[in-house]
Amino acid sequence: MHDATHAVPWSQASWPAQNKTALYRDLAQELQALLDGEDDATANAANAAAAIYHSLPALNWAGFYFLRGTELVLGPFQGKPACVRIPLGRGVCGTAAQERRSIVVPDVEAFPGHIACDSASQSELVVPLLDGDRLLGVLDLDSPERGRFDDDDRAGCEALAAIVVRHLR
Ligand code: SME
Repeated sequence: MHDATHAVPWSQASWPAQNKTALYRDLAQELQALLDGEDDATANAANAAAAIYHSLPALNWAGFYFLRGTELVLGPFQGKPACVRIPLGRGVCGTAAQERRSIVVPDVEAFPGHIACDSASQSELVVPLLDGDRLLGVLDLDSPERGRFDDDDRAGCEALAAIVVRHLR
């Protein structure tokens, strides 16, 4: 009867796999409520990074890079200091941005061109921030666990990214 895992947002609790969908659904609702009514893009990206980092288990970095010209520039995040500028097409972030698709990297050492900001990172998920046809940047999650992200995480984080995009306008 104990099924409180997804009822505790911001907890960094681990989750049974079957609760993943519920946790992402709850986090999406929390995020929507957190960002609604505020129109400052920096404040909203900062709160989104904090909410995601403290709600999803086994992360060592969560945050945003925003498109500035032909490169991505570091935005609000939680975790250790990170590389500031990533050209389009470089690393996991630059590749996801250029190809406008989410990328799940189960083992960063096996991804050619991966940019190591924190040597603790073992796996990564990058989701592009798309406002219609316009690329705004990416949401980047790093984990110290190999194989941390799967297709449920991709789908869940794409839903979170869509909420963030609506609050960056
Ligand atoms: N690993 C990323 C760089 C950003 S950090 O992980 C925060 C990449 O390869 O693009």
